[in-house]
Amino acid sequence: IQSETPASLIMIFGATGDLAKRKLYPSLFHLFRKGKLSEHFAVIGVARRPWSDEVLREHVRDSVLTSIKDAENIEEFVSHFYYKPHDVSDSQSYIQLKALANELDQKYCLEGNRVFYLAMAPEFFGTIAEHLKTDGLTDTNGFHRLVIEKPFGHDLESAIELNKRIRNVFSENDIYRIDHYLGKEMVQNIEVIRFANAIFEPLWNNRFISNIQITSSEMLGVEERGGYYETSGALRDMVQNHMLQMVALLAMEPPIRLTPKEIRSEKVKVLGALRSIEQDEIPQYFVRGQYGPGEINGEKVIGYREEQNVNKESNTDTYVAGKLMIDNFRWAGVPFYIRTGKRMTAKSTKIVIQFKDIPMNLYYKSEKNLDPNLLVIHIQPEEGITLHLNAKDTGQMMETTPVKLNFSNNHAPGLNTPEAYEKLLFDCLRGDATNFTHWDEVALSWSFVDKISHNWESEKADFPNYSAGTMGPTAADELLEKDGFSWWPVTDLDVNDC
Ligand code: BG6
Repeated sequence: IQSETPASLIMIFGATGDLAKRKLYPSLFHLFRKGKLSEHFAVIGVARRPWSDEVLREHVRDSVLTSIKDAENIEEFVSHFYYKPHDVSDSQSYIQLKALANELDQKYCLEGNRVFYLAMAPEFFGTIAEHLKTDGLTDTNGFHRLVIEKPFGHDLESAIELNKRIRNVFSENDIYRIDHYLGKEMVQNIEVIRFANAIFEPLWNNRFISNIQITSSEMLGVEERGGYYETSGALRDMVQNHMLQMVALLAMEPPIRLTPKEIRSEKVKVLGALRSIEQDEIPQYFVRGQYGPGEINGEKVIGYREEQNVNKESNTDTYVAGKLMIDNFRWAGVPFYIRTGKRMTAKSTKIVIQFKDIPMNLYYKSEKNLDPNLLVIHIQPEEGITLHLNAKDTGQMMETTPVKLNFSNNHAPGLNTPEAYEKLLFDCLRGDATNFTHWDEVALSWSFVDKISHNWESEKADFPNYSAGTMGPTAADELLEKDGFSWWPVTDLDVNDC
């Protein structure tokens, strides 16, 4: 494994935007400070605004200093940044960009290696990719990689169209489709927990697991993203990508080796085995919600329909709960329940693996049941794993008490685990696509989600149906109750409660 990135020129399209500021510049700086970024690097910020190199450097400096107090070497870092005002549909702009890129290639000995990071509105992805080729930015001898932010299309059809356009320029191996959940420490840990321990894999199937629950709840509303969210909703925004990726990692077969090709092909098999739901069955498997006014942290907040740029009668889902069935030998009969939404009680992503009940309870005379064993994977905000067991309660009687074995991955305060974007940038610069989504995964996820969204778009929902600050509509509880289960409350399962 290379510990340092190769010489590279990174072009960030959307350099004045929010993502670049909040994530990309601080992540690059972390890599630089840790000595993981080759000293042979340069960044060209590309955007519409008429900025200069100096203005971009000031902006990068500010964005780094907001999150990192002791930013030694910041001056050297920002000296590698250049700015180019740009019009995405004008060839002249690309020709000028190419001249600057060639100049920096020489100056920093970049060997013609180029990463094009599209951190901007998705409607420009295809146009930019085409111009990169026709205007000669991919004419060097080094590698050329395209990093592309979500959303990758709006449905299967638009995703196919976009994919066609970018595949005319870049090969699949050089396309890095970002799903930032795949950069999260504990999402990456799912595979390690499963495949580096002898004790879990034998139990990881329908003989021993009764159901799996994945919750990704947010307290924030749609903030200033109402316009985008109206065209998306929770199903497209969270389920098509992040939630289905977690399902795939939990359910996949062990890969024969840890290469991007092998891992991604195991995930593809899971997505291909998702039970396809008929239109009239959708209400039995999926519940949608939209938040009305309510309270978050004791403060009143408005409902979704009152948010900026949102239709007063909006039919958009801000919450989704679903039951997924994976029709293969390992998982037949085991429901994977997922739920995600805005303006819920807590910001939390957790996976709960619930094991089947033991055949009989020796320890209680009454009808009281033993608690089921749970394996909880805490993705965020805490990171860790908790195994819930039953043990003997201290004393003379053979009574049981629930206990938790706990591994907390949270580092000392101030020492954050590497941010998802830092890891993903590092991987992409090294040419490791494992934690990026392959086209086959994107296509299968869209075809699964499309059926549901077409159904929802054709019928007006009775919205709003949950108050801000709650865990979603009651129908989501009923979804599990009819199978004899209930949602494990995310707030009661915290690592630190152990
Ligand atoms: C993004 C969605 O992909 O993920 C956002 O577009 C959502 O709507 C975000 O808020 C959640 O990410 P995280 O890392 O905060 O859980």
